[in-house]
Amino acid sequence: MKIIRSKDDLRTLRRSWIFKGERVAVVPTMGALHAGHLSLVEVARQHADRVIVTIFVNPKQFNNPDDLDRYPRTEEQDAKKLAPYAVDALYVPTPDQIYPDGFATNVHVSGLTEDLEGAHRPGHFDGVATVVAKLFLQTRADVACFGEKDYQQMLLVRRLSEDLDIETEVLGCPTIREEDGLAMSSRNVRLSAQDRAIAPALKAELDRAATAIRRGADKRVVLNSAKAQIERAGFDTVEYLELRDAADLSPVTALDRPARLLVAATLGGVRLIDNIPV
Ligand code: PAJ
Repeated sequence: MKIIRSKDDLRTLRRSWIFKGERVAVVPTMGALHAGHLSLVEVARQHADRVIVTIFVNPKQFNNPDDLDRYPRTEEQDAKKLAPYAVDALYVPTPDQIYPDGFATNVHVSGLTEDLEGAHRPGHFDGVATVVAKLFLQTRADVACFGEKDYQQMLLVRRLSEDLDIETEVLGCPTIREEDGLAMSSRNVRLSAQDRAIAPALKAELDRAATAIRRGADKRVVLNSAKAQIERAGFDTVEYLELRDAADLSPVTALDRPARLLVAATLGGVRLIDNIPV
């Protein structure tokens, strides 16, 4: 696995692959890799001849500066975790390779991003869209793997790629969970032992609510009771718990098309998100 830190070196490598007609996949990450990230690498491997994993802790997408400072930076361990996966290149750009002096462009995907995560994290999705557009253009990947764990992000990235005629196909990959159902996340290590024991309630309540909605129970009643249950389990607050259209996240009244139940809640000051299909 080559470790690459500049976009010029990346371009040279990419050209040698294009020349041989090889298909390239990219897995964008911010590092602190866990089994969720590694599952994306496995999918990428199945869809391409060459796999690039990127690690860049993107300052533009952190609406909270403390969160950026606290974000784990573990390149050496990450490289070790990737070793068994036959990754061709690990792209770890220095900040100037992404945001050179004078950088003045902002990519904003409207509609999809105003609500849910967008409403609670101002500027976050512009930061994501801007960095992902750059990573797609720098890697010129044929395919990119994104986790359904960040469902709204996955949809926005797909929209952006289509809208800007970027020839990178966005693949959504299933959420990888701990045995007790908690969605894997680099934030989980911030939970105290006591909160870690409470955390699985989030997925358990999503499951329970989805089952009730599928059985025809009143959506509003089900969601209100699930919210109350999550807080009763020990969460600080539920920021949102919503049933939305799986394709564009518009509000859903009847279950006449694929829907998604999405939640964000804080536990001991740690913000957790999750979602499941309904
Ligand atoms: P990061 O949080 O590192 O996540 C990188 C990718 O891993 C995303 O596509 C995310 O959805 C996926 N992922 C995280 N946890 C997962 C899990 N439990 N199961 C499956 N996939 C999971 O998301 C970002 O970084 C950044 O916003 C990024 C897209 C890299 C842009 O900076």
